[in-house]
Amino acid sequence: MGWVEDLFDGPYAGHSLELAEDSERNEREAAFIIGELGLERLDRVLDLACGHGRHAMCIAPKVGSLLGVDRTRAYIDYATNWSQGLGLENAEFVLSDMRELDYDGEFDAAYNYFTAWGYWDDETNLDILRRVCRALKPDGRFLLEFIHRDALMRRWSPKNWRQIDDALLLEENSFDFTTGRSINRRTYIQGTKRHEIVIELYMPTADTLVRLFVQAGFTAVRAVAAPTGDELTYDSFRMAVIGHRPADSQ
Ligand SMILES: C[S@@+](CC[C@H](N)C(=O)[O-])C[C@H]1O[C@@H](n2cnc3c(N)ncnc32)[C@H](O)[C@@H]1O
Repeated sequence: MGWVEDLFDGPYAGHSLELAEDSERNEREAAFIIGELGLERLDRVLDLACGHGRHAMCIAPKVGSLLGVDRTRAYIDYATNWSQGLGLENAEFVLSDMRELDYDGEFDAAYNYFTAWGYWDDETNLDILRRVCRALKPDGRFLLEFIHRDALMRRWSPKNWRQIDDALLLEENSFDFTTGRSINRRTYIQGTKRHEIVIELYMPTADTLVRLFVQAGFTAVRAVAAPTGDELTYDSFRMAVIGHRPADSQ
């Protein structure tokens, strides 16, 4: 099993539900997405790696239609039930791998939020950005929200402990500066049981991610602090890069 499968399908996958239930945070982040993407009443929107649908639930009522895609069946089921409970008839959630995203000119806007990219080799990471660009209508917008590496480095913590329900989580972090990859070794300790996941994430700086967007075909690319939209500083722990599919693209 690779780390992506273990993290999202494995025995400790459930704790991310806490995040889904933080409605104040979800509303704040959704307002940021809506503002930065300039979402309008009739827009068709893609939530790429939607997870439990915590942003989709806030955004769908404000747009024409929303498609959430994710590779994790439990999250898609959760999002589908949640949207049905809210009576959202314009939202659909589909089990799908973003590496196979295959739309052309379908969406007015798309977003990928909370470190849901960078899990693969350089070629695949770039290919996903190309696929997203193609999925947009001419002048469609894409927002990718991610860790702001330069700020992370300022407060780099090689080791920390956290309590996750009744398990203790030890995180040991290292960084490969030649590849731009962080290695996060997680050890979950629950009684006498131990479970280890090693997460290897490509973590580009803001300027590199901007260049990757350009390489993938986006134009008018900019980077801001998330979820405020302010200028990036050494203290902005998270960033968003926003780009447009060229208005004259076929
Ligand atoms: C850190 S979570 C973020 C989820 C959501 N955007 C949020 O903010 O709560 C990363 C998400 O990426 C999804 N994911 C991982 N690999 C994927 C892939 N190849 N295709 C689609 N989704 C994927 C996971 O299932 C998970 O829901």
